[in-house]
Amino acid sequence: MASVEIMTPRMLEGMREACQLAAETLVAVGERIAPGVTTSSLDLFIRDMTMSRGARCSTLGYKGFPKHCCTSLNEVVCHGIPGARVLTDGDIINVDITSFYPSQNGYHGDNSATFYVGEPSEDAKKIVEVARQSLEVGIEQVRAGARLGDIGAAIQEYAEGEGCSVVRDYVGHGVGRNFHMPPQVPHYGRRGSGLRLRSGMVFTIEPMINLGAWQTEVMADGWTVLTTDRSLTAQFEHTIVVTDKGCEVLTARSAPLKHSEDVPWARLGPLASPAGLNAR
Ligand code: MF3
Ligand code: CO
Ligand code: CO
Repeated sequence: MASVEIMTPRMLEGMREACQLAAETLVAVGERIAPGVTTSSLDLFIRDMTMSRGARCSTLGYKGFPKHCCTSLNEVVCHGIPGARVLTDGDIINVDITSFYPSQNGYHGDNSATFYVGEPSEDAKKIVEVARQSLEVGIEQVRAGARLGDIGAAIQEYAEGEGCSVVRDYVGHGVGRNFHMPPQVPHYGRRGSGLRLRSGMVFTIEPMINLGAWQTEVMADGWTVLTTDRSLTAQFEHTIVVTDKGCEVLTARSAPLKHSEDVPWARLGPLASPAGLNAR
């Protein structure tokens, strides 16, 4: 594997700025989730909020991607393109936001969450809550000296134990001066295998969890990724930096996500409370 950057405290200041904008934008998007809203209106909101803060959306133009975020509904695993689609009661939607401050060798901050539109089915609740918890159990593995495989194994054991499956074709990634950098961070694997983590490594954990089988396919638009069996799928993503004691969640939120973390059935781990974050 190509070498993985160790960020200095100064670089981490830049990362925090980008990651906090990505997090604040995700919180603001949560307030706008409702039946009748189009995915393109969410995209334009994200564009406007990002630009008003002097930043850019990393997805726009990335390998030709045409929009400011990804909006992935129901059986869409990731990389859904915002457009005329109207949010409808019972949908689940992942919104994935990556912010970039261009000044002074800027940094990218990447996060996503899955939201409930109106009243969810029991299947929708199941897959969203398993995906939410999958990110938490992955983050719990992170500390200097642990291995990348420990993260993947913990997520895979948990998600498969819940009768769900882990997407193999898309993984977490290093993030920093570039949107996607080494290392690759699989959400499946074997404990004790893979890269040994060191303080200052920065990467995303972003498990995509399917209610059915793990296989995926890409639509004719070249972007939209679907579950091959068309089962429901959900995803949550944070950008983290490894520390000696654990990690710092750079995209941690100061407010719960509406239409996601605020529902009574949400299975929230320590990440949801600022006190829990400080304990890491
Ligand atoms: N934000 C996604 C990720 O978590 C990547 C989107 S790339 C795009 O890595 F081109 F589809 F926008
Ligand atoms: Co992302
Ligand atoms: Co990512």
